[in-house]
Amino acid sequence: MNNNFRKIGIFCSGGDSPGMNACIRAIVKTCQKHLIQPIGIYRGYEGLIDGDFKELKNEHIRNILGQGGTILKTARSKRFMTPEGRLKAYEQIKKHQLDGIIAIGGDGTAKGALTFSKEFSDIPIVACPGTIDNDLFGTDYTIGFDTAINTTMQAIDKIRDTAHSHDRLFFIEVMGRDAGLIALYTGIATGAEAILIPETLTNIDELVQIIKHRWETQKTSCIVVVAEGDDAGGAFEVAKKVQQKFNEYDTRVSVLGHIQRGGTPTCTDRINASLLGVHAVKALLEGKKNVMLGILENEISYTPFEYAVKEQKSQYVQLLETFQFLM
Ligand code: F6P
Repeated sequence: MNNNFRKIGIFCSGGDSPGMNACIRAIVKTCQKHLIQPIGIYRGYEGLIDGDFKELKNEHIRNILGQGGTILKTARSKRFMTPEGRLKAYEQIKKHQLDGIIAIGGDGTAKGALTFSKEFSDIPIVACPGTIDNDLFGTDYTIGFDTAINTTMQAIDKIRDTAHSHDRLFFIEVMGRDAGLIALYTGIATGAEAILIPETLTNIDELVQIIKHRWETQKTSCIVVVAEGDDAGGAFEVAKKVQQKFNEYDTRVSVLGHIQRGGTPTCTDRINASLLGVHAVKALLEGKKNVMLGILENEISYTPFEYAVKEQKSQYVQLLETFQFLM
């Protein structure tokens, strides 16, 4: 272990996710145990560029374990995508004498960290996977996914109640601009009749056949879960395309939106986020850099940034195959 670390900077970037606070808390506590000053960087890469830093003390992390969102705030930074922005960030790191950085975020965060690490290799960076989308390679899990799928599942269950009472067809849009795992998990968990995801091409005629069959054989509710990034469009667009070909059902569209990103984290999210936070500090002390931590088969994993953002997870294939038997 390297004991030369005096200050570690921590930030959240990209979309927030429930459990980020549990991760921050674990990082702060682990730093304190190693007599390292944990420095909070506010609003992600934006705060890194502006030097919006504050030492995190016990009072900052009290009672945050069960809070959704992030006490450090977050942002999607356009400035960090420019060489000038990254240079400013580097200068702030040097000025404030940070010896290492822990980023919590999703693929945009990892891409930013990857570019930065190539330009300024003297700053060790590791990342904890924080996104409700669970779309990072090298980890079975990302912070916030478990809470998000439970929130989404409960919302779809509620819609099913009313859909069933009225024998209606619902198109329910869930989050996932580029990733369909929220749609797949919650569609399977709620017994959806169809699930549309960005990873596969949507065939509207096939979808119409499924809906028609449901109408002709059961004349009861029908739920189509649509990931917002599906190639056929969002839920409103898909509904329109279907209605042009089959219009027997009384149809409604429901966009669940940002409700999926909030709320108190589940037990799984609190535990895994804490585990990742503790190991992120340990990783820096062990000399690891430019890696995204993760959890693979119940073990902590370390995936180089370039693979974390490029490769596709294999979970889709198995879930899609499973769904074929449940339709
Ligand atoms: O953080 C991931 C995510 O929630 C995606 O599922 C979604 O497509 C996107 O962020 C929405 O981002 P924003 O909050 O910027 O609208």
